[in-house]
Amino acid sequence: PKTLIEPFRIKSVEPIRMTTRAEREQLLQAAHLNVFKLRADDVLIDWLTDSGTGAMSSRQWGAIMEGDESYAGARSYYRLEKVIQDITGMAHFIPTHQGRAAEKVLFTAVCKKGDLVPNNCHFDTTRGNLEYMGVEALDCVEAVGLQPATIAPFKGNIDLARVEEVLQKEGARIPFGMLTVTNNTGGGQPVSMANIRAYAALLKKYGKPFIMDVCRFAENAMFIKMRESGYENTPIPDIVREMFSYADGATMSAKKDGMVNIGGFIVLRSDEWLDEVRSDLIMMEGFPTYGGMAGRDLEALAVGLQEGMDEDYLRYRLRTAEYLGEKLDEAGVGFVRPTGGHAVYIDAKTVLPDMPVAHYPAWALCNALYLEGGIRGVEIGSVMFGKRLQDGTETYHSMELVRLAFPRRMYTQSHFDYAAEVIAEVKEQAASIRGVKITKQPKFLRHFTAEFDWV
Ligand code: F0G
Repeated sequence: PKTLIEPFRIKSVEPIRMTTRAEREQLLQAAHLNVFKLRADDVLIDWLTDSGTGAMSSRQWGAIMEGDESYAGARSYYRLEKVIQDITGMAHFIPTHQGRAAEKVLFTAVCKKGDLVPNNCHFDTTRGNLEYMGVEALDCVEAVGLQPATIAPFKGNIDLARVEEVLQKEGARIPFGMLTVTNNTGGGQPVSMANIRAYAALLKKYGKPFIMDVCRFAENAMFIKMRESGYENTPIPDIVREMFSYADGATMSAKKDGMVNIGGFIVLRSDEWLDEVRSDLIMMEGFPTYGGMAGRDLEALAVGLQEGMDEDYLRYRLRTAEYLGEKLDEAGVGFVRPTGGHAVYIDAKTVLPDMPVAHYPAWALCNALYLEGGIRGVEIGSVMFGKRLQDGTETYHSMELVRLAFPRRMYTQSHFDYAAEVIAEVKEQAASIRGVKITKQPKFLRHFTAEFDWV
């Protein structure tokens, strides 16, 4: 049989509240045409993010009961420390409440105003944390990583020539180099082992430490196994270990491949920054043996990290995105190719080719998916990345994408079949989809709270 089944069965369920189109029309209107303002209960399929939204396993729920909530020296800390040391090969583990806290603690300890940090693509919070400190966050992904329709195996790779040029010209400003696996901002695209190895060597040549953003390290490892020659028969934990072996440290949002609803950490190979990092941690997050997490959360993560590297799970996980991609192809809907690990990014311009950018086609498509089928995605287009200038004119983003990000182990194949039908129906009725205009917006991160009306 060629169907790849979900490699788990369901032990506990959470009902979805069904809604009608007429109800959704009212609900979206009340949310000022902004799906961020909807109540989650009014959403049928919530693909807003894969972060912290997944289902935990029965083993994780069992582990939660084992949580040691001692303030200092909790057993749960030592248990997780051992798991993380084994997976990463790094000596030092610093728990935080989520990924952006790991970034903030590390950057505060190591960066200063005027610095520059290269990365394939900085995720929003990474960029935000750096820029807040007056540090320049430079994206150096290979050119192919910015071309949605081009098919390549590792579109998350960093452009090594570009980085070398920056190291030569700006070396004095660079405290370390970063690399995000997989590259979320570029479509959840993986980075090859060869690229990780070469980037590490380059940073070493210039005497710079190498920090990885490893939210989706297991998905990246599976892509290496499936696409990079020489790794076909390598077990995932060995691939992961090799990836980490090139780095000096990493920041992690455990809400992704850690398979938990909250949590994060920093790992470091040497103790050079450790005192500084730990004292910042105590100020910002908590005592070093719990950081920002409860003892039970440390336990759930110790189990989740191992489950996240299970090969049957990862094969099913990557196949899910690919499966939806195939259905979109059949419906003539364009998307970022190949599909990434955690999400599918629809190219709204292929559904609404005639809608002016000023009417925000990706936002309009997002609304249409909700109205037609109760699906919630995220616009990655000119509402998120455009700006209203002083003179009232607007700047626009180069792409109009809708990201559908998949919570882990939560939605079944019939949910995906349903979503594919909804998207195809929306495409059929594209002529009736209305654009929007912004009626109210804040200065920064306007997509979260802006209000809209139909044009
Ligand atoms: N780095 C990457 C690559 C991420 O995708 C995220 C979060 C973070 C860091 C920050 O982690 O949320 O735990 O503080 N990405 C989520 C998303 C929010 O929807 O893509 P966090």
